[in-house]
Amino acid sequence: MKLHPLKIRNLTAQYPVIQSGMGVRIGSAELAAAVVNAGGFGTISTVGLGDVNNTDITNYFAHCSEALAGLIRQAREASAGKKLLGINVMVALANYKEIVQTAVAEKVDFIISGAGLPLQLPEFVGDADIALIPVISSGRAFELVVKTWIRKYNRLPDAVIVEGPRCGGHLGFTMEQIEHPETCSLDKLLVEVKEVSLKYGMPDLPTLAAGEVACRADIENFLRMGYDGVQIGTYFITAKEAGIADASKQVFINATNDDITIIKSPVGLPVRVIKTKLVQKVLSGERTPFTCPYRCLRSCNPAQSLFCIARALMATWSGDVDNGLFMCGCNLDSVKKIYPIQEFFDTLKD
Ligand SMILES: Cc1cc2nc3c(=O)[nH]c(=O)nc-3n(C[C@H](O)[C@H](O)[C@H](O)COP(=O)(O)O)c2cc1C
Repeated sequence: MKLHPLKIRNLTAQYPVIQSGMGVRIGSAELAAAVVNAGGFGTISTVGLGDVNNTDITNYFAHCSEALAGLIRQAREASAGKKLLGINVMVALANYKEIVQTAVAEKVDFIISGAGLPLQLPEFVGDADIALIPVISSGRAFELVVKTWIRKYNRLPDAVIVEGPRCGGHLGFTMEQIEHPETCSLDKLLVEVKEVSLKYGMPDLPTLAAGEVACRADIENFLRMGYDGVQIGTYFITAKEAGIADASKQVFINATNDDITIIKSPVGLPVRVIKTKLVQKVLSGERTPFTCPYRCLRSCNPAQSLFCIARALMATWSGDVDNGLFMCGCNLDSVKKIYPIQEFFDTLKD
């Protein structure tokens, strides 16, 4: 099957692939630029930016915004200004508005937003010429976003990413749904989302599937199903350009699908992770007390959370594998090496 280009608003990528802006720092400027150069949509992650372990930082929001601006400029330069560079921003972030406004000021090409419903996203973007892409996990959630955007901002999404119950990171599903993924599989979700797109006059809205894509055949399967493209997370974690230390990439490589479990995250959603020492502790209800200088998540209560997810993901970034948290999708068996991202995109050529 020939892979067609993916057009979203005024942006066209050679391949129907969006690289997920995975936090913390996996979706680095280097990875996003490499993906843009290889012919996909490159996405910078916006969680855990800057020197966030430095508790002297009195203005956390401004510090993160400054760090993000630097990353966007770095990625732009490394991708020769090609118009396929964006950010991923989680609704759960305390500095959501400031992150979006920084991305707008730095003239990114697209903004992907999930981990909560991005109901206010158009308000913070204003009339900037930026593609807005919500991430949703049900037709109902999508309809709520679309209705709100039309009513309050007279704005429609430029594409939509559908995250299924088997995808990586935080999940917009109940534990019961996660245990019975067939009840909300990506083929079923496509029907729900298409219904909403038709109802609101967007029959051709680009619709992307997220979950378990690790090779060209996986992309072709989703295109045959009726999706216009895919967002790839887990398989890109061990790309050479991804922002975390090699020691942490090796944890993903050494793990198998049998090592995966689900815990409740301080973000307030279930999250799929590799079963490490830290995760065993969380599963047994044991708390790792911590102090929190800046409250990075709206939903986290530091007095009650079992652990600090920001610190754990920073540990993953730095290669401190004993204290790290390793979020992943269901396809770890396909993650077996560190490789240059171009190698993956070469398999998409005809
Ligand atoms: C380590 C990791 C970090 C992630 N971080 C984010 C994030 O910061 N924001 C977000 O919207 N999604 C995040 N996700 C979810 C991805 O964007 C993507 O939809 C998902 O990983 C797709 O499934 P796959 O991992 O099976 O490819 C993350 C996923 C992983 C594995």
